[in-house]
Amino acid sequence: MCGIVGYVGPKQATPILLGGLRRLEYRGYDSAGVAVVGSRGAQVLRCRGKLAGLEAMVQREMPEGTLGIGHTRWATHGRPSEANAHPHKVGSVSVVHNGIIENYLPLRARLETSGRKFSSETDTEIVAHLIDESLLGGAPSLVEALRVALRQVHGAYALVAISDKHPGEIVAAKNASPLVLGLGKGETFLASDVPAILEHTREVVFLDEGDVVQVTADGATITDVEGKPRQRPARSIEWDAAAAEKGGYPHFMLKEIHEQPRAITDTLRGRLLLEDRDADLEGFEVDVRNLRRVLIIACGTSYHAGLVGKFMIEGTARVPVEVDLASEFRYRDPVVGAGDLVIAISQSGETADTLAAVKEARARGARVLAISNVVDSAIPRSSNGVLYTHAGPEIGVASTKCFTAQLAALSLIAIHLGRRTGKLAPDAAAKLVEELALTPTKMTEALEALGDMKQLAREYRYAKDFLFLGRGTNYPIALEGALKLKEISYIHAEGYAAGEMKHGPIALVDDGVPVVVLAPQGPGYEKVLSNLAEVRARNGEIIGVGTKGDQQLANLCDRVLSIPDAPALLQPFLTVLPLQLMSYAIAVAKGNDVDQPRNLAKSVTVE
Ligand code: M6R
Repeated sequence: MCGIVGYVGPKQATPILLGGLRRLEYRGYDSAGVAVVGSRGAQVLRCRGKLAGLEAMVQREMPEGTLGIGHTRWATHGRPSEANAHPHKVGSVSVVHNGIIENYLPLRARLETSGRKFSSETDTEIVAHLIDESLLGGAPSLVEALRVALRQVHGAYALVAISDKHPGEIVAAKNASPLVLGLGKGETFLASDVPAILEHTREVVFLDEGDVVQVTADGATITDVEGKPRQRPARSIEWDAAAAEKGGYPHFMLKEIHEQPRAITDTLRGRLLLEDRDADLEGFEVDVRNLRRVLIIACGTSYHAGLVGKFMIEGTARVPVEVDLASEFRYRDPVVGAGDLVIAISQSGETADTLAAVKEARARGARVLAISNVVDSAIPRSSNGVLYTHAGPEIGVASTKCFTAQLAALSLIAIHLGRRTGKLAPDAAAKLVEELALTPTKMTEALEALGDMKQLAREYRYAKDFLFLGRGTNYPIALEGALKLKEISYIHAEGYAAGEMKHGPIALVDDGVPVVVLAPQGPGYEKVLSNLAEVRARNGEIIGVGTKGDQQLANLCDRVLSIPDAPALLQPFLTVLPLQLMSYAIAVAKGNDVDQPRNLAKSVTVE
């Protein structure tokens, strides 16, 4: 969690830091701050809450200087407050941090015993004290003082530090939290994520675990914690800053909902082999003769994609598939090993629980294939192979385009495995490949027909509870619909397998509870209609999601949201669209902050 940015060069640092923080605010917005080194040392400005507060402070008094660091916080240790906001300045040293210092309590006790005073509740302040202590103790350089501090801390961190006594340099370290170096002409940048610096440079270096960096305007020197040099290749980023902007939509989430057909096309491009009726996993080989089982691990929306993936892979390859929440898997002493293919799904590639589950699975002998949207992020790097989704940066905290891009990646895996196990016959493969290729067009058609849903939002914005029902491949979509509504509309919502209603949840139905029923034509259609009738008999208000032109469904519902026809395995690409749009429209109608909903952050790098 948290966003970090750093700059050293010939320009005023403050506007560059604020611009970078604006693009990183999706990582957390409990507080924001900058430290900029001027003629009298670093001036620190911090405030509780969103970046707008800091921007207002800067308007009144802009810190002058050409070197600085900035931070936007998602609180872990210490509540959101100005005192706990980064940067933390101790003596001459200012520090920003993303991650958790696990042994901060004994370190704090030791530092307090030696007479040091703390002004925050954070784990980060420890690091500022340790660097300051080391400098006062005679460390020959700022980077050496950082190394001394790093040898004492355990945990996950991207750390960036400056010192009034070393005005031309920034030092940084990375372990388990992302940190990118940007190389400009006579200027150098640091950031948690590429969009923060893309308007300034396209040449970036993705720092790796254990890297310690000394940054000046002329470039950077990378070493390990012992000072041994490390080589990291620079790479040129192709997508431009505009791709990370809103592109004319009022919110990133709406833009990203509408980008889904393009995201699917890009994810399938070059991998979906129409002529061969096959799918290419870009060199990732699966020994299907020894494939005992597939295990999918993920969190949140990515977990819901995994639940759809189970239907896809079992349907085509006839290999048993289990789907597990990463946060449960890792603590369960899981039965996993050689013969298991683990698929780890993570949009950010940085989710701490999923990363730990990947490490656990690999330690027990399983092969791991990651599905991620972020190149070179921790989960792909820790896996045996990776299938990247090409959704482009997803800024809205509520995941939309990355979800359907994950479905596209899972479809490719399903086709690939089905062909190799021989359980997906060539004709069936041809049909599936053809249908998958048509999916982006059908999604565009659906999005156009669904419109903005403002009217629906006006009617339902005061609802206190929502139910979502689906069967088969649409059961995970019911879960996803409920999650989307909870995340951004703050309306309590539950997703259920439609057949489970009669086993308890039907008691919740009354005329004040809208029930969204996913009922596209295909297997289970008649059964869903029966479940729908049960709700109707109890005065439930029904919003149906069904196949275009389905009059029978329309007669049973208060309102129908229509989607094009599709085979059951691919319906989730379409049934999720009205649910995303509906949640978005209700959140807007309620005046909520759609892209940065309360209490959430885009990537969850704490356990
Ligand atoms: O980056 P990841 O896919 O690993 O993230 C997993 C969840 O934190 C994420 O899907 C979360 O549930 C989203 N906010 C859902 O919209």
